[in-house]
Amino acid sequence: MVPEKIQKAFNEQIMHETFSAWLYLSMAAWLESEGLEGMGQWMRVQTQEELTHAMKFYNHILERGGSMELLAIEKPPAKWDSPLAAFEAALEHERFITGKINELMSLSIKENDFASKTMLQWFVDEQVEEEDNATRNVQNLGMIGGRGQGMLMLDREMGQRTFVYPLAVASPSSGGE
Ligand code: FEO
Repeated sequence: MVPEKIQKAFNEQIMHETFSAWLYLSMAAWLESEGLEGMGQWMRVQTQEELTHAMKFYNHILERGGSMELLAIEKPPAKWDSPLAAFEAALEHERFITGKINELMSLSIKENDFASKTMLQWFVDEQVEEEDNATRNVQNLGMIGGRGQGMLMLDREMGQRTFVYPLAVASPSSGGE
């Protein structure tokens, strides 16, 4: 059984991860409307990753006999002042998510819920990568200054990103984690 407080907090985290997907999908649409197809593709892949994060919490709750209470997802912004502003907002959002994961880890320790603690360690590690990627995007855009040949090259490079479904998010019925 999953402790009541953990179940409630994980349900909220499903909402945060799904909002992340919604935010990045909105950024993808805006970037593509600005002619930055590659950056849009990068955000599309990020959207898919965020949905797998939400599913990892969802699967964990169901696997432990918990109940699901999906929450409303807030409307994300639809435009930003510049591509740099969009990627800065993405970095700020990832820092917010890291804070949420740390809060969940503290709660799992307080509740002596070792199954959650093990699962959350994956997210602690993942957030290091998430913040690193988001920081690199901001730095690259900052160096280029949002214009010229460099922008074209960065857009092409970011467009190479593809989505790989993580095995660690397989559903309980598929025999995965
Ligand atoms: Fe699921 Fe980007 O944090």
